[in-house]
Amino acid sequence: MREKILRLLRENRGEYFSGEQISKILAVSRTAVWKHIQVLKKSGYDIESHPKRGYCLRQIPDLLRPDEIKARLITSDFGRTIYYYDDVDSTNKKAKQLAIEGCPHGTAVIAEAQNFGKGRLSRGWFSPKYKGIWLSVVLRPPFAPSEAAKCTLMAAVAINKAIRRVSNVDCGIKWPNDILCGRKKIVGILTEISAEMDGINYLVIGQGINVNATDAEFPDELRDVATSLAIECGHSVSRIDLTVAVLEELERVYNIAVNEGFASIFDEWRSMSITLGQMVDVIGVESRFAGIAKDINEFGELIVQTDEGEKTVLAGDVSIRPKQL
Ligand code: BTN
Repeated sequence: MREKILRLLRENRGEYFSGEQISKILAVSRTAVWKHIQVLKKSGYDIESHPKRGYCLRQIPDLLRPDEIKARLITSDFGRTIYYYDDVDSTNKKAKQLAIEGCPHGTAVIAEAQNFGKGRLSRGWFSPKYKGIWLSVVLRPPFAPSEAAKCTLMAAVAINKAIRRVSNVDCGIKWPNDILCGRKKIVGILTEISAEMDGINYLVIGQGINVNATDAEFPDELRDVATSLAIECGHSVSRIDLTVAVLEELERVYNIAVNEGFASIFDEWRSMSITLGQMVDVIGVESRFAGIAKDINEFGELIVQTDEGEKTVLAGDVSIRPKQL
């Protein structure tokens, strides 16, 4: 019933409904309406009560509650099933458990905070409460395991697009999948996979997006290398709107990848890249080298022109050298 009352107020935001009107529309007593409104107010909904005019929803709290996300989301699979936690060790860890238990393709795991957020290369991920989007999506793609790395580039394209759609912040992708504003990181993506020789069981795309943290809220060791959308655009950004945009863009690129392949997604990636054309230092799994980042190939590997000729890298850390003045 509470969800029904909320839907009525949400769909008519800014308008008053008397207790009597709500009780007639939803066939519930006025006392029950009053009680549900009190609970909604306690959980952060800004609902104005007027003795004659009734109730009016002014503000929705920017919490990533599944009902708020689903009320706006236009997708077929992505985010249709959502697991939501106030805090959790790691959404990727939860998503992997759920995937093993058989959760559907497109399941989203969202937490307001992570206590042990995981980053790439065994690093941690700073995930303060209510300040970012800590989201993992379970995919069950029909691709060969060798295609999994391409999904990471695909996710970067989707998130970059979603950020531009919601905030207009000018950000770009550093190979393979970090999203940066200037030289500071705003998004990290951690893809984890379970596969057999002939197919992928599941793929978890974990995304950490720094949304509303202030400079002072970042720990000292991150302040020079990380930023948030709020810092970049000077005002807070709706985490609900951005989560919806990410899930929609992710489903869009995923469907392209499945139906048409990755070529056009890689073209989008190239147009968003801040790595191509730059002098880079590469720390690969087995080698280290430096050179000019020229392109990505059809496998999503970075092609680097070095003094010894062209080299490619599929997994590793790439740093872009600052331009010499
Ligand atoms: C990186 O090192 O750049 C990747 C960071 C990925 C962080 C996200 S936050 C949501 C998901 N859950 C995790 O534990 N990690 C990813």
